[in-house]
Amino acid sequence: MTLGELHDAARKALDPAHYDYMAGGAGEERVLADNERAFGRYALLPRVLRGSERRDTAVDLPGARRAAPVIVAPTAFHRLMHPDGERATARAAAAEGAVLVTGAASTTAVADVVAAAREAALDPAVWFQLYPHPRREVTEALVRRAEQAGCTALVVTVDSPVFGRHTRDLRNGFADLPPGYAAENMRDLPGAPPGALTDIPMSPAPSWRDLAEMLAMTSLPVLVKGVLHPADARLAVEHGVAGVIVSNHGGRQLDAVPASVDCLPAIADAVADRVPVLLDGGVRRGSDVAVALALGATAVGVGRPVLWGLAAEGEAGVRRVLATLRDEYDHTLALCGGRRNADLTQDMVVRRGGVR
Ligand SMILES: Cc1cc2nc3c(=O)[nH]c(=O)nc-3n(C[C@H](O)[C@H](O)[C@H](O)COP(=O)(O)O)c2cc1C
Repeated sequence: MTLGELHDAARKALDPAHYDYMAGGAGEERVLADNERAFGRYALLPRVLRGSERRDTAVDLPGARRAAPVIVAPTAFHRLMHPDGERATARAAAAEGAVLVTGAASTTAVADVVAAAREAALDPAVWFQLYPHPRREVTEALVRRAEQAGCTALVVTVDSPVFGRHTRDLRNGFADLPPGYAAENMRDLPGAPPGALTDIPMSPAPSWRDLAEMLAMTSLPVLVKGVLHPADARLAVEHGVAGVIVSNHGGRQLDAVPASVDCLPAIADAVADRVPVLLDGGVRRGSDVAVALALGATAVGVGRPVLWGLAAEGEAGVRRVLATLRDEYDHTLALCGGRRNADLTQDMVVRRGGVR
């Protein structure tokens, strides 16, 4: 099955409100659509007579060398997609050698997510995503939980001082998880009675000081996710982050921002190779991965396609999505005359419809 067919199968398998939760975006979904469309506005200009029979697509990411530049972006509530939920995603990502970013809004506790990844591979790379919380002790408890579980990096999402207005969820009246499902990482946090759940932490007034505190709280590498302005990328690097993730949250926050790939070149320039720059939003095929790498990304994250695979076929579906993207990317690299990721350079990307 192609990724498109997995998407169709996911739509059929899911409760329509849960499908809409996964597929939808904020406002009129302009950014959601533009993330994908933007990749179509770029074309690759291959180099010839310099390829190699075998390509090396390996990539160095904070705390992890991986075989391909595609990682699983953090997405909430995998058990809404499939009963095996995050355990299936974790096993699939580990088996395919991809970094899994699991998050505070997971329907499986992070320790169980890492344990599932370890069932599938000896050296899985699981990162933990969280939001800055106004109460430092809640943030610290989550950081310790991730460390103790064996996560190898943290991802702080900074584009969500408030939740985006998800039009489809508002229309469907989808606000809460169904009975029997919970954001398990949010159980037993400081200030709540034993066994009780704390709301997903999200600070209405996050600051650079919150980021500095988080960096001081852990020896794990910390990446910052949801950066679109080059000045913020520069500031993040100055604060000591281990990576910058260019992302508009898959079009689920402000429905007025550019496509994430359109923000990438300026951020890559601002970061100037000091730390890896990652990108997510609208990556649907191997050539999208190649465009992002040529424009300065070290790796890309995929959100919804992983959920299509999970909803359609569980662990096997997630594996299929990751393997497909990896194979398509390797094929594209070959056709571009590349031996390794670094052979994709900015001069090899042009606007479709005109070569400069
Ligand atoms: C259903 C869903 C849930 C998400 N939950 C989170 C989350 O909890 N934390 C976060 O940082 N990003 C979250 N995201 C955003 C993704 O990490 C990522 O930025 C986005 O999905 C990338 O775009 P793509 O879906 O086009 O690949 C979510 C995205 C979706 C689709």
